[in-house]
Amino acid sequence: MEKPRSAPPAATIKAVLFDAYGTLFDVYSVGLLAEQLFPGRGQALSVMWRDKQIEYTHLVSTSSGGAHYQPFWALTRAALVYAIKRIVADAGADCATGQFDAKVEQLMNQYRHLSAFPENREVLQALKSQGIVTGILSNGDPAMLAVAVKSAGLGDLLDHVISVDAVRKYKTHPDAYALGLKATGLPAQHIAFVSCNSWDALAATWFGYQTLWVNRSQAPFEELGTQPLYTGTSLRDVLALPLRGAAA
Ligand code: LAC
Repeated sequence: MEKPRSAPPAATIKAVLFDAYGTLFDVYSVGLLAEQLFPGRGQALSVMWRDKQIEYTHLVSTSSGGAHYQPFWALTRAALVYAIKRIVADAGADCATGQFDAKVEQLMNQYRHLSAFPENREVLQALKSQGIVTGILSNGDPAMLAVAVKSAGLGDLLDHVISVDAVRKYKTHPDAYALGLKATGLPAQHIAFVSCNSWDALAATWFGYQTLWVNRSQAPFEELGTQPLYTGTSLRDVLALPLRGAAA
């Protein structure tokens, strides 16, 4: 795991909050079904779906004082409808209305039960055994997070499942990140925020969390002048942070 050379000594970490989609749950695990439904376009569809979903969160958070807020499930569906229309149009193909709706439902159902990354459980177990407070801090709405956590069998390993829906503002709004302080009762410098999404890791760093960016795909980091405090390649890198739980 890398730590930037210029970083000040880090405070000990008492809680670890994880982003959900893309970090604990593999949003691209829908690619196989997408490929079956749209042969030759499955990967493009899953990437466009994800990008549009995140774009919509920023759009509703930054426009008209948040008046157009919709829960993440609704934005996810809207992004999928857009992505399918775009893929079908780009492929010069036709998709009859009944067939279109059925494909949307199939993909949304798959999204409800995304695959969890395999190392999640052992990492959460190791954190719990050290007395570290654990949680999710996600754009997902409470209902979809509850199903995802239950499907992945992670419920007993998470102290907090925090949804930004409580403030109706999506990350990267500071009010969304502040929910982690409220839930844990800790200041940001004692909380590690872990995300595979570089934009999320960047904004959480700006907010004041100790941030671990898990770069699973050897991507470059955002080019806005700030680096995350830590960069790793797997969730296991969480265990190398300066942890100090109640069991220490
Ligand atoms: C989340 C999205 C951003 O879980 O991945 O918050």
